[in-house]
Amino acid sequence: MADNRRPETMARITTPELAQAFIDEQLAALRAQIGGKKVLLALSGGVDSSVVAALLIRAVGRQLTCVHVNHGLLRKGEPEQVIEVFRNQMNANLVYVDAVDRFLDKLAGVSDPETKRKIIGAEFIRVFEEEARKLEGISFLAQGTIYPDILESKVGVKAHHNVGGLPEDLNFELVEPVKLLYKDEVRVVGKTLGLPDNMVFRQPFPGPGLGVRCVGAITRDRLEAVRESDAILREEFYKHGLDEKVWQYFTVVPDFKTTGIKDGKRTYAWPVVIRAINTVDAVTAEPYELNFAFVQKLVARITSEVPNVNRVLWDVTPKPSATIEWE
Ligand code: XMP
Repeated sequence: MADNRRPETMARITTPELAQAFIDEQLAALRAQIGGKKVLLALSGGVDSSVVAALLIRAVGRQLTCVHVNHGLLRKGEPEQVIEVFRNQMNANLVYVDAVDRFLDKLAGVSDPETKRKIIGAEFIRVFEEEARKLEGISFLAQGTIYPDILESKVGVKAHHNVGGLPEDLNFELVEPVKLLYKDEVRVVGKTLGLPDNMVFRQPFPGPGLGVRCVGAITRDRLEAVRESDAILREEFYKHGLDEKVWQYFTVVPDFKTTGIKDGKRTYAWPVVIRAINTVDAVTAEPYELNFAFVQKLVARITSEVPNVNRVLWDVTPKPSATIEWE
């Protein structure tokens, strides 16, 4: 499709001025496309869907309904931030769906990584479809498709993700205002739209969320160990300015226990794995050389603050032979 091709004359959006010109152009285009009709958007709180939400709120206000599905696999504080930024600050029409039990019940006992991913993807579509059917008179579905998604689905690297897969009777017309932008341009536009830095400059995060970092069958206690240790890691990276130097950093909790000792008593608990990598394109990646005293600080905080954890490991394997994520 011709309109899915980025014109060669289109300048890279690198400055607030260029971003503002893009925003003005898109607001006019969105108002012309949507008119007085209603739009639906699955808002994860990631950069792409957040920028699309902010554009649409400016263009058509409460004709937009955002649906935020909390599948229980988001990082600490993320659902709260989506509600704060979009409902409270931007006055968006936001439907918050607490689907935590639904997802975790479906995932109980499932250890195969691909099956876990499929369950999460399918359940997401089911929850979103249920919400879409409750709303009346929706004509458009907005999506945070960006240019690499279009390029990659063309050469078959990945199936087009987002909310493709809705039943045919819900045949909404698509609204994809950032589909010709690269990720760095989406960030400049997001910043210019006034979204918070920790939303705009967020590190990459898999669609299945913490589900891929809770290796094997997900249990609630191990998922909490991933979420809490990730929150500590992010806090320490931010405090030490490492969030600006390291491309991706997170924790993983494997599904085995080892022996430890606390207050003179034997413990049998989970290990937490730290991962901190730099990469240009995620195809290959190098471990970031963390300062040893910093690593020890992480070990001290994680083993004392996260329940059911007695050991911390640091994964320094490059990609290849490892992948960035563990699953
Ligand atoms: P791997 O583990 O394959 O990851 O080396 C490469 C990059 O992709 C991210 N990742 C995902 N991103 N949906 C996404 O949008 C996913 O399902 C997904 N799985 C992995 C990963 O975090 C890393 O940055």
